[in-house]
Amino acid sequence: MSTMPTRKPQRLFFALWPDERVRRELGCVVRELPRHGGRLPHQEDIHLTLAFLGMVEPEKIGCIEQAADTVRAVPFELVIDRVGYWKHPRILWCGPSAVPPALTRLVGDMVPLLEICGFKPDERPYSPHITLARKARKIDPYVLDTPIKWPVGEFALVGSDPGGGVPHYRVLKKWSMDS
Ligand code: 2AM
Repeated sequence: MSTMPTRKPQRLFFALWPDERVRRELGCVVRELPRHGGRLPHQEDIHLTLAFLGMVEPEKIGCIEQAADTVRAVPFELVIDRVGYWKHPRILWCGPSAVPPALTRLVGDMVPLLEICGFKPDERPYSPHITLARKARKIDPYVLDTPIKWPVGEFALVGSDPGGGVPHYRVLKKWSMDS
């Protein structure tokens, strides 16, 4: 698969990209949220970010792909079981109460490899979450009656097309995790 058909800078990030079943279940969580008045993502774009790169010059793509090739990644199960609200930046999200060590290791390995490519790491500690609504009003956090079990076996490099309003995302390349 060709990652980069364009020579222009692109806004990129690494993410876990759900399969159809998990995506459907996440879509149900979105539909069952209490009233929040926020903007919903496109259902086909719901994801969990691993590392945000921002605008990336085409010259850096090789280094980024090499980082993804090199990173130690093993499959794990992610159990999405709670919904919360962050006042800044006013998002509703869902995520795991227990972060699998393999996920922490994956991000912990990936970030320094991306630093070698010239990316500045996020200073905030990594908090895996799936954004369900933006510019939302506060809701009380809750746990899901039926947690979503997401068997994670791959990660993706994703491009973002802002295009006014809610951005659209494109999976550019996927890496499978070795079992
Ligand atoms: P968010 O859902 O919490 O906003 C694409 O924008 C993805 O990268 C989103 O999932 C977004 O997380 C994440 N991301 C992390 N840091 C970002 C930043 N500084 N600007 C935009 N998106 C960021």
